[in-house]
Amino acid sequence: MILVTGGAGFIGSNLADELLKQGHSVKVLDNLTTGRMENLSNATKSGKFKFYKGDLRDFDTKILKDVEIIFHLAAQIDVRKSVENPVYDMDINIKGSINLIQQAINSNVKKIIYSSSGGAIYGEPTILPADENTNIKPVSPYGASKFAVECYLHTFSKIYGLKYTAMRYGNVYGRRQDPLGEAGVIAIFFGRLSQNKIPVIFGDGTQTRDYVSVDDVVKANIAAIDKLKKYNEYNVGTGKETSVNELVSVMEKIFSKKIIPIYEKERPGEVKRIYLDIKRLQNELNFMPDDIETGMKKVYEWMKDR
Ligand SMILES: NC(=O)c1ccc[n+]([C@@H]2O[C@H](COP(=O)([O-])OP(=O)(O)OC[C@H]3O[C@@H](n4cnc5c(N)ncnc54)[C@H](O)[C@@H]3O)[C@@H](O)[C@H]2O)c1
Repeated sequence: MILVTGGAGFIGSNLADELLKQGHSVKVLDNLTTGRMENLSNATKSGKFKFYKGDLRDFDTKILKDVEIIFHLAAQIDVRKSVENPVYDMDINIKGSINLIQQAINSNVKKIIYSSSGGAIYGEPTILPADENTNIKPVSPYGASKFAVECYLHTFSKIYGLKYTAMRYGNVYGRRQDPLGEAGVIAIFFGRLSQNKIPVIFGDGTQTRDYVSVDDVVKANIAAIDKLKKYNEYNVGTGKETSVNELVSVMEKIFSKKIIPIYEKERPGEVKRIYLDIKRLQNELNFMPDDIETGMKKVYEWMKDR
């Protein structure tokens, strides 16, 4: 039995669908702050699926009965919110995670596969791409809280022998990402363009990220159940950097029209350049991530079919 926390969200619901497709029994714990039941409309049709509405910080621990593996995705994911209200960010991301880990140990859960953030924990590294040994120097409370949980997982693994893997994602994009959310520039741009609105760029658009498709993130997570064994931390990205201005160029091709974005003042807490070295993942897995154009075309097709 597998538990996916945050399974009603963007990445978690894609993961739950794939786990069910592969024959696993799946439970989801989610408080539906940003997640939506609509994301689980396929999953709820399965006899092997159960949804529990609850909060990481205070959930009914009976749901951990028979759970062997936890994919821990539930989090507050908004970098700007973490800058405005770091205590709130800490409360959900750190306190909520510690509660989950502690209860998991009490219930003899075998392994936790944690969604961390390669885009946020390394901060502004001097050497790029950032590999897993890069110094951890987050520039946002969100980056700090995501890494703090890795530290607790390590600590609990030493004290109780808990097994864990931290998957450090780049910027994930794909089906079900909220176009009205505060994070996920690709979804936000697609959302605006499909309503004939102009995309807004914060800063000059030269900031770069490692954009990785949700399908690739799901593949890497599922491999962490039993294939990725050598390390506790894996970057999950493409190994390539793309600027926000380049994203706009790809969108011009996809929408076959000229796009002139609005530029606004950059936001605090955002890093200028980041992309991830993914050799560790590639050496253990035949991991061939989608390039940005292929991945964005898939999102476009999904949006058209909705
Ligand atoms: N999207 C990205 O680019 C990205 C990058 C790096 C890491 N991550 C990590 O991946 C995970 C999933 O992110 P996402 O993009 O799918 O975000 P999301 O907001 O779509 O999903 C998060 C889910 O957690 C739930 N949740 C929030 N607080 C909760 C709480 N206290 N108790 C129970 N449920 C709660 C939300 O309702 C939502 O369904 C997060 O841990 C995030 O930090 C995401």
